[in-house]
Amino acid sequence: MKLLVTGGAGFIGSAFVRLTLSTDAAAQVLNFDALTYAGNLENLAAVSGNPRYQFVKGNICDAAAADRAVADFKPDAIVHFAAESHVDRGILSPRPVVDTNFIGTFNLLEAARKHKTPRFQHVSTDEVYGSIEAPAEADESYPLKPSSAYSASKAGADLLALSYVTTYKLDVVVTRASNNYGPFQFPEKLIPLMISNALEDRPLPIYGNGQQVRDWLYVDDHCRAIRAVLEKGRAGEVYNIGGNRALPNLDVVHKILAATGKPESLLKTVEDRPGHDRRYAITSEKILKETGWAPQVEFEQGLTDSVAWYMRNSDWVSRVRSGEYQTYYEQNYGQRGAELNRIVN
Ligand code: NAD
Ligand code: TYD
Repeated sequence: MKLLVTGGAGFIGSAFVRLTLSTDAAAQVLNFDALTYAGNLENLAAVSGNPRYQFVKGNICDAAAADRAVADFKPDAIVHFAAESHVDRGILSPRPVVDTNFIGTFNLLEAARKHKTPRFQHVSTDEVYGSIEAPAEADESYPLKPSSAYSASKAGADLLALSYVTTYKLDVVVTRASNNYGPFQFPEKLIPLMISNALEDRPLPIYGNGQQVRDWLYVDDHCRAIRAVLEKGRAGEVYNIGGNRALPNLDVVHKILAATGKPESLLKTVEDRPGHDRRYAITSEKILKETGWAPQVEFEQGLTDSVAWYMRNSDWVSRVRSGEYQTYYEQNYGQRGAELNRIVN
């Protein structure tokens, strides 16, 4: 099967490419990625020499480039990961988020329609349901109530993609996963940021009271779910993919302190995120029933493995935390607490 993977140089996309090439001997992968601040070909070192893997640098906001990639490669399926994926960056600067997540998805859908791509798998998020009061859990028919440019642009893209099933009979499937964690995650998201700050004895910035709840999913479990849906998912359907491990942020950060052997004194409460969603919660019964997929990696094990990976890969961390990252860090955290301003002396 020929898979055109967008965003394959990012955290989840690269895990998907590595998993696919190592477990599916028949797969050929074209990775189409713009290499934004979040894209890193180092994440694909394990597959770069594989004859079944190729890379094209390209931007999904460029309709002609997206069209050319689909026309030339003629994929059996497009697995669409490329996105501006971080809520905080989207708060500081929403335009690239809307451009990539909505218009970029539109460009790819148009290319898939024109070249009659047999399947379009759109990778989305549980954040499209917005904050959910306990004890409710969203199934796939739950109303969409996104709170940020990130989640609103993803929700818009989900609906646009599904409209191509109705209007053009394109075979589209949407997956909505909960918060991922694991190796190669860019240290702007909660878990890799806290691990890498803790390892360098930097303050750990907790937004607000730290009682917000996220459902944690190990990245390889997410990738196995996407493969299950690619094989067995039905056109026009949405599949939630949850880790079945809901935890308040403060509990997650305490576990990181324990795993890294660092003191509580590193915890630092800072000004809350505007529009901060309090709780995400989904049920994944549908994917279990239709494909047999369930998460395999227990949170404590996944976290221990992640901490070990960040300890072993301090060079990778230093490289991705240099340059542009410093500017972002100062912009996002500088105003929240002066002592968090710089992470490198
Ligand atoms: P990431 O930020 O690590 O990687 C995004 C990748 O997309 C990068 O390689 C980047 O270079 C590429 N990219 C960005 N804009 C592009 C453009 N205009 N054209 C081509 N390539 C572009 O993101 P991630 O965490 O791996 O997330 C991947 C997907 O999974 C996203 O669609 C995201 O919405 C979704 N998702 C993420 C999570 C999570 O917890 N990280 C949870 C659920 C769903
Ligand atoms: P994040 O990893 O950005 O994912 P999302 O907002 O998409 O769920 O954040 C996860 C949770 O951690 C969220 O409630 C915000 C919180 N958080 C902090 O408290 N401090 C931080 O520095 C970051 C990045 C996140």
